[in-house]
Amino acid sequence: MVENKYIPRLYGRRQDKPLKPRQARLMESLLPTMAAPDPAKGAIDPKKNFPQADEIWLEVGFGGGEHLVWQAVHNPSIGLIGAEPFVNGVGKLLGLIDQQQLKNIRIHFGDARPLLEALVDRSLTRLFVLHPDPWPKKRHHKRRMISPWFFEAAARLMKPGGELRVASDIPDYAAWTLMHAQHTPEFDWTAERADDWRLRPEDWPQTRYEAKALKEGRSPTYLVFRRK
Ligand SMILES: C[S@@+](CC[C@H](N)C(=O)[O-])C[C@H]1O[C@@H](n2cnc3c(N)ncnc32)[C@H](O)[C@@H]1O
Repeated sequence: MVENKYIPRLYGRRQDKPLKPRQARLMESLLPTMAAPDPAKGAIDPKKNFPQADEIWLEVGFGGGEHLVWQAVHNPSIGLIGAEPFVNGVGKLLGLIDQQQLKNIRIHFGDARPLLEALVDRSLTRLFVLHPDPWPKKRHHKRRMISPWFFEAAARLMKPGGELRVASDIPDYAAWTLMHAQHTPEFDWTAERADDWRLRPEDWPQTRYEAKALKEGRSPTYLVFRRK
């Protein structure tokens, strides 16, 4: 078990190769226009960023942004926030946003956790955590995104009926997520049969990380929880 507070430090890599020139330019020009409010400046009501949106959805650790962009394209009435500290991922997302001229995305370039803390109660209808870093060693479990702290934050942030989606190709991480969900009475696991967690729902596109996992012979688990 881990503490009910997160370690305010980011593990994992922040950058690999240098950004392509176009991505570097978009970091300068496009990112400031699409940035989510800074959590260091106080409480965030995301409705202010998306006054026309029917709902606000948030993706934690969007990687290369394929899932976030797919959701933004297929749900134009939704405001989507993506949080990611990996600069190459943010560069890729900016490239996709620019290419498709998307307007319904805001980017938090950094650790998602201060953002989750700053968002106001009941501000989110969907929350996605797709293939969070597994941190398989027991002594590193306290680095995992899914934690008692995370479920407490999700319970506060989500509207009744809202959906929390978590995917992992690591059986231990899926079991870990279910264990923490069981300790959070505000959420119900929606699965009724094995296919509900074995098969990816149609409105859930494959991510880059998932494609890699499948190629390497690991099967993902798709967990959907409903906020009571
Ligand atoms: C295994 S990758 C999966 C990426 C993507 N979701 C996918 O499925 O392709 C995990 C991602 O979580 C991001 N991440 C790690 N810690 C994070 C944090 N505290 N806040 C936001 N993202 C984080 C990493 O930078 C990385 O991009």
